[in-house]
Amino acid sequence: MAFPKDFLWGGATAANQYEGGYLSGGKGLSTLDAITGGSKEHPRMISFKTKDGKTHQVTREQSLPAGAVGYVDPEQYYPSHVATDFYHHWQEDIALFAEMGFKCFRMSISWARICPKGDFAINEEGLAFYDRIFDELQKHGIEPVVTINHFDIPMHLADELDGWLDRQVVDYFVFFCETIFKRYKGKVRYWMTFNEINFLRSWTQIGIHDNSKPKRWQAMHHLFVASAKAVMKGHEIDPDNQIGMMVAYIPSYPMTADPKDVFAALQFNRDQESFIDVQVKGYYPAHRIKEFEREGIVIEKLEGDDELIAQGTVDYIGFSYYMSTASSADPDKVKYVGGNQMPAVKNPYLTESDWGWAVDPLGLRISLCKLYDRYNIPLFIVENGFGAQDVVEADGTINDDYRIQYFRDHIQAMKDAVELDGVDLMGYTPWGCIDLVSAGTGEMSKRYGFIYVDLDDEGQGTLARSRKQSFFWYQKVIESNGESLGE
Ligand code: BG6
Repeated sequence: MAFPKDFLWGGATAANQYEGGYLSGGKGLSTLDAITGGSKEHPRMISFKTKDGKTHQVTREQSLPAGAVGYVDPEQYYPSHVATDFYHHWQEDIALFAEMGFKCFRMSISWARICPKGDFAINEEGLAFYDRIFDELQKHGIEPVVTINHFDIPMHLADELDGWLDRQVVDYFVFFCETIFKRYKGKVRYWMTFNEINFLRSWTQIGIHDNSKPKRWQAMHHLFVASAKAVMKGHEIDPDNQIGMMVAYIPSYPMTADPKDVFAALQFNRDQESFIDVQVKGYYPAHRIKEFEREGIVIEKLEGDDELIAQGTVDYIGFSYYMSTASSADPDKVKYVGGNQMPAVKNPYLTESDWGWAVDPLGLRISLCKLYDRYNIPLFIVENGFGAQDVVEADGTINDDYRIQYFRDHIQAMKDAVELDGVDLMGYTPWGCIDLVSAGTGEMSKRYGFIYVDLDDEGQGTLARSRKQSFFWYQKVIESNGESLGE
């Protein structure tokens, strides 16, 4: 048997894309509550107000004027407000996860639900909400895997302090962590500090108004310090806690054997690996320091920051894997690919999803080998999946064989990495195990789930849940501990 007996099979979600209840139970506003839906053609927009009281919208890549504050326009549809309503469907959803045989369930805690303004004031109702979730999971023998912060920040901290640019946010975040570590001690053992830390930038994700590189890196430094402090606090509160980091891992291949292309790929790869270096090795890699020097970027550090980063290293690497990409030294070949996610080259050897994400199962094995060879600590695939438009047949069935195919090939690759390469893999939580709002486009029509949710891109639908074909397929995979992947 390739996978260990206690392998953590499950599924993954995030509060802002799944939970809804955006003002229920005392929750405060989060930055993501002011971001609209979008599509392949139209980007999601941030709604905000300037000091003169006028309202505006910008894309997430654009900066906001100083002093601008997030704004929820009553005329506009914001997908996070209801999302797919875990807030009211938790019992039903957890029962469905249990029916699939989940051993674990990855979710995030909404910071603004626990600390509505992100400061030291706690919302007891928010804490009680997650108590109910963890108790229900425990009832079904499902281990929670908690991302402490997934892509947002309480809006108050963005409005008043310019988000993670302000050092005070480190203390607020660590307070939030301490609160949940203490409250859920004995209920939650697996944690991750920040989702896809290498993707964090912009007002929506880290609350900063000015998106320029020096500001982003100053904020990143604060995030690294906060993560290190949280890891130490979490271990102190409960030595059984396993606390990981989480990175979006997209391996890049050189487009040709030309050493220039090989070097371009190296640069692409080490950019994302540098985030792992800081959190696993405990220091900024030399190439990053040289880059700061060359570009005149000066990170303001407090005395002791480097020591904190060195001490607060993580127990495992959580990562998302959806696709690979290719690199070229020729700037004319480099276009935005992967659904406009990153500047890279289209790989002619791979097919793509309807959203332009290259499908590359072997890339998952390559990633597992690279990460394990490089860091030698346990790995956890906490996101993987195929975003596709599903069709509900007249009899209600959803034949998502394309998704089954994607998972079969990726699980096989993962199995090879464990069995043949000796990678220490803790678990596998496919993304959006139940349909939820897409982070990139804000659509519902880009679906990942084994469970279908009746909701469209405009927020219309009954929110009823139904099982797709992939539900029954994944159930068998888990039941056989990954031995039976079907035809
Ligand atoms: C990851 C995120 O980037 O990919 C998730 O951690 C996100 O939040 C997922 O939903 C898939 O991306 P998208 O844009 O298809 O939702």
